[in-house]
Amino acid sequence: MKRRVGILTSGGDCPGLNATLRGIAKALYQRMGDGVEIIGVSNGYHGLINGQWRVMQPQEFSGILTVGGTILGTKRTPFKLMRVVGEDRVDKVAAMKAHYKEMKLDCLLCLGGNGTHKTAELLAGEGLNIIGLPKTIDNDIYGTEVTFGFHSAVDIATEAIDRVHTTAGSHSRCMVVELMGNKAGWLTLYAGIAGGADIILIPELPYTIENVCAAIERRAEQGKGFSILAVAEGACDAREARMKRSERMRRRAEQGYTTATNRIARQIEELTGIETRICVPGHMQRGGSPSPYDRVLATQFGAYAAKMVEDGNYGITIAMKGGHVGENRLAEVAGKSRLVPESHGMLEVARRMGISMG
Ligand code: F6P
Repeated sequence: MKRRVGILTSGGDCPGLNATLRGIAKALYQRMGDGVEIIGVSNGYHGLINGQWRVMQPQEFSGILTVGGTILGTKRTPFKLMRVVGEDRVDKVAAMKAHYKEMKLDCLLCLGGNGTHKTAELLAGEGLNIIGLPKTIDNDIYGTEVTFGFHSAVDIATEAIDRVHTTAGSHSRCMVVELMGNKAGWLTLYAGIAGGADIILIPELPYTIENVCAAIERRAEQGKGFSILAVAEGACDAREARMKRSERMRRRAEQGYTTATNRIARQIEELTGIETRICVPGHMQRGGSPSPYDRVLATQFGAYAAKMVEDGNYGITIAMKGGHVGENRLAEVAGKSRLVPESHGMLEVARRMGISMG
């Protein structure tokens, strides 16, 4: 009897998804040859709910190591709606279980971020054999030191900071670069340090505009007429940090913005008189070919997941722990996220370097 292994990619795409699919497939074919069949589910849980799947051919996994995005397609299917029956009257959980059965799967591998892992845990709780693989540029999955996609995004975000440096210097301006990361500051912290940012603002450490401007003015007094700010899309000031997220978003919407970036730039100009521009690389941070680091990580994670399939070890997600690839129980990590802790060594490094954290 052939082992039937399902795979899907869910949530936002990122560099390294295809490299991971390739890692899983090559390792499975290598060990099991004709004894395994891989079934690709299209567009994440949306495809699982709607029965969109196909038997994949080994050659479909060739030539994709360096290719961005995902050959399976992806969609955001919010976890909070999984148990909600909408206007289409589809019971999503029942539909996913039925299609798993219809595909005659031995197990299903779910590549994705925090939301994907919550649904993966829900399905494992419903008795399906599930293995998660941690993908996200946000690097915020609990229980793993790193996720694939993160380092590629750090490379791209760093290049964005590098490139605005010249204009900042030539024009004696402040440049505010807004970086992704959702509620986590990892991407901004790493790219900010790699790009030599003077001020780094992350969601975990609410800033005050007075501290930001004081740092800019200190640099100006030292003859450095320009400053580079790396600002996480989730950054908020100390006053906003005391508000509920819904209230914060409502207030921002009333003032015509969603992230703090525009406001920070305007306040810097008002309070310091220094001309300020913003730069938002946006989805460029999620696009294109994975970095060599991510290709290696994706291959490690993929090969390890294939071993877990072989061993029949389910209800888990792959993780990097103490520099070694291993696994965590889904039940122990799903629903938690990993933010930058106050005690993190990289914050200490930033402060020692004289970088203002706002
Ligand atoms: O989770 C990855 C991420 O890129 C976040 O950093 C960002 O907040 C979000 O996805 C953007 O999502 P979307 O592509 O759906 O706009």
